[in-house]
Amino acid sequence: MEISVIGCGYLGAVHAASMVELGHEVVGIDVDERRVAALRAGRAPFYEPGFEELLGRTLASGRLRFSADVAEAAGARVHFVCVGTPQRHGEYAADLRFVQAAVESLLGVLEPGQLVVGKSTVPVGTAARLAGLVAEKVPGALLAWNPEFLREGFAVADTLHPDRLVYGLPGGVDGALAERLLDAVYAPILARGTPKVRTDHATAEMVKTAANSFLATKISFINAMAELCEATGADVAQLADAIGYDERIGRRFLNAGLGFGGGCLPKDIRAFMARAGELGADQALTFLREVDNINMRRRIRMVELAREVLDGSLLGKHVAVLGAAFKPDSDDIRDSPALNVAAQLQLQGAVVCVTDPAAIDNSRRQWPQLDYAATAEEAAAGADAVLVLTEWRQYRELDPVAFGRVVAQRRVLDGRNALDREAWTAAGWTYRALGRRTD
Ligand code: UGA
Repeated sequence: MEISVIGCGYLGAVHAASMVELGHEVVGIDVDERRVAALRAGRAPFYEPGFEELLGRTLASGRLRFSADVAEAAGARVHFVCVGTPQRHGEYAADLRFVQAAVESLLGVLEPGQLVVGKSTVPVGTAARLAGLVAEKVPGALLAWNPEFLREGFAVADTLHPDRLVYGLPGGVDGALAERLLDAVYAPILARGTPKVRTDHATAEMVKTAANSFLATKISFINAMAELCEATGADVAQLADAIGYDERIGRRFLNAGLGFGGGCLPKDIRAFMARAGELGADQALTFLREVDNINMRRRIRMVELAREVLDGSLLGKHVAVLGAAFKPDSDDIRDSPALNVAAQLQLQGAVVCVTDPAAIDNSRRQWPQLDYAATAEEAAAGADAVLVLTEWRQYRELDPVAFGRVVAQRRVLDGRNALDREAWTAAGWTYRALGRRTD
């Protein structure tokens, strides 16, 4: 099937190449000429394990092309909208400018019988409004909403092997036609028995924001427990293991630490609250404000813990920060808890040197006043304390004995509960972590 993908960021670029892998012929459209040039040349414009290999393979098949001209989308049977919906400046609500512009740009090429499929995360009600616009301008063209659940760092696997497909369909015969087209797009995935939920526009939009809100709540729940553990001397990691054995609870997303960041969870829970307010149902989501508060408090607590470990003052202390990306296997620093803590330490007088396997260039652009080093050893040379704030494998696997030789003081703060406490303590390190016992 001929497919177009509008917006070639994280979601769109991976989706475009993955659709070729499923057997389709795809054109990826993006307004950013440099991004288009990079993708055409087989270069990933962001760090994502496995994506460049997939891009190379699918470009070589001759069935994938990229363009900055939306006219190239003409003739495609299905048009995926994969543009971003960031948080609006100074507000909680989502900025829908890019989604609106993408759909409007498609109106010029859209023909009856073709399907526009929204994948971006949008406030509930957006799809119905856009479906009205499409129906008015191009009678016979259809619109469905098909949210995406990919995680950065696992984007390729999550796109090719999703745990479910959600179709938000229009009513009546239009819905049946849209479903047939989506089934044809995802045929190899459906053939594996992947669950499919067919529903209306509003439910499909809400599935996405509800899922991210649940994940954020789960993380903040365990971080609230960490606060209590700190107050009582209990251990949050053992607590998480113990409650996680209950299948109704589950151990995943119960890792206490610095909390969630990135381009999705924080802005999605805020946009969800804003939308609930517009709908007169704000009470239903007031708990998300507390989820957000618990999450932000972890960053402040980390700075306090650093101050405690550094004998009560950050002034002039050399601090090594390992990790800048919002999570491992990503170069994304949007709302990164690690960078946020690094910047706060620096602003409060510490001399901070940051390292990260993938996110240094992005971090330097945002925080040029921090020092950066290429490796953990360079960052930690002569340090009074080491903070592990993003749990990259490289840092989890550091040898505490050898690493202990480069620092001035063996003090480590494990912001992600990712290190082997016994091994670090045995190597003479003072080990501290959020929500953990100090002994
Ligand atoms: C998240 C969702 O997991 C995806 O399903 C969704 O598709 C995506 O947002 C999106 O909306 O596009 P992502 O932002 O890539 O994916 O990252 P996650 O793996 O969810 O991690 C989010 C944050 O939570 C990270 O900062 C991570 O360090 C933190 N986290 C995660 C914890 O603090 N504890 C945990 O136990 C798990």
